[in-house]
Amino acid sequence: MENLTLNCARTLSFVDPADITDMGTEMEKNNRALHEKRGKGNDFLGWVDLPSSITTEELSDMEATASLLKSKNIEILVVIGIGGSYLGTRAVIEALSDSFTHLKPVKSPLVLFAGQNISEDYLAELRSLLKTREYALMVISKSGTTTEPAIAFRMLKQDIEEKYGKEEARSRIVAITDASRGALRKLAETEGYKTYVIPDDVGGRYSVLTPVGLVAIAVAGFDIRELVRGASDMERMSGPEVPFNENLPAQYAAVRNLLYRKGKTVEIMVNYNPKLHYFSEWWKQLYGESEGKEGKGIFPASVDFTSDLHSMGQYIQEGERILFETVLSVKSPAASVVIPADPDNLDGLNFLAGKRVDEVNKMAELGTALAHVDGGVPNILIEIPLLNEYYIGQLIYFFEIACGMSGYTLGVNPFDQPGVEAYKKNMFALLEKPGFEKETAELKKRL
Ligand code: PA5
Repeated sequence: MENLTLNCARTLSFVDPADITDMGTEMEKNNRALHEKRGKGNDFLGWVDLPSSITTEELSDMEATASLLKSKNIEILVVIGIGGSYLGTRAVIEALSDSFTHLKPVKSPLVLFAGQNISEDYLAELRSLLKTREYALMVISKSGTTTEPAIAFRMLKQDIEEKYGKEEARSRIVAITDASRGALRKLAETEGYKTYVIPDDVGGRYSVLTPVGLVAIAVAGFDIRELVRGASDMERMSGPEVPFNENLPAQYAAVRNLLYRKGKTVEIMVNYNPKLHYFSEWWKQLYGESEGKEGKGIFPASVDFTSDLHSMGQYIQEGERILFETVLSVKSPAASVVIPADPDNLDGLNFLAGKRVDEVNKMAELGTALAHVDGGVPNILIEIPLLNEYYIGQLIYFFEIACGMSGYTLGVNPFDQPGVEAYKKNMFALLEKPGFEKETAELKKRL
């Protein structure tokens, strides 16, 4: 059985291979600290052994909830959440879905999202769509107090109760939140919703392999057992007893930190398959929120190639030399599409006749990597054999554990996010939320 692979060969003209080897001891130490739950933020390390500790009973219960919702013939499941309560679910579903699933007859409900922004247009358009469809709601918030999903849920709850009546609406709502704290827990208990708990020791951006991600992914028709199996295998392949030279996440964490020390302060996650767009969004949150603190941290960015070669490609090739790339490459596409011959050859493309589209894509990938390295942009390559549940599971755990090791090397706590409070304080003050009177007065003086 093939596994995910990591190739750092195209960074070696930027970092000294001896320096990578030297980082081994530190990475092994960081990995042990994560597994032994020592080090900064150690009360948020429940995700480290999450894949291997999920029980068959837990998976069966989540699958049963998915089946129950589907038995109501819902066309749409609306997942309400933001940040870690949103991105992982979307990343997995989009990676595994047909690109045109929303326009095709499918066996499983379409998963749509709400509460990931405060756009009035978005909410109005969603609500008007739901009036004409059969649907259910899944509201996710670890704190149970986040404003964006709370606003969306307040409205969608009223709509679903109006459409189906309170009793039936109740059976169409699943709430995923803290075991005891927060407004959502209280509301869910009062209303009698089916609930799942987000473990205390798992932070939002590390929670996709808890009910936060798994229930909706099961509703979308994907195999959560395979997802967890992939993650669990990567947990084993990157465990504390695995030496640095065999531990791929540890090597990735080491190389990106060495590049950072050489002034490569921006890491661009690159894909050549648009299904991975939201995987990059999940990765950006994971790394941005984990590492960007105390005036430090690699800025995580992303592009979808080859589309963005016709927009950001110019900057990457010749702009500021602060970039490095990590390419997520899928070895074999699920489909096989061959470029046809054309007797007139008016477009001059007969040199490609008989080749698969993916062969062109792979040459674009190789040509771009070589050009970017020549232009001063180091290139890390991560290959997965196929885009399926198992390998997405491997990738999720790969990036999570690497993020923990990388954050420790940087010297920050990768498991908190104090910086996200600043905008909330200002927003509440500007909205004159009770309790924020002093902040309101201070801000008004500045306006
Ligand atoms: O990673 C995190 O902790 C955050 O991105 C949260 O997931 C996000 O702020 C949403 O929080 P909550 O689930 O409490 O609504």
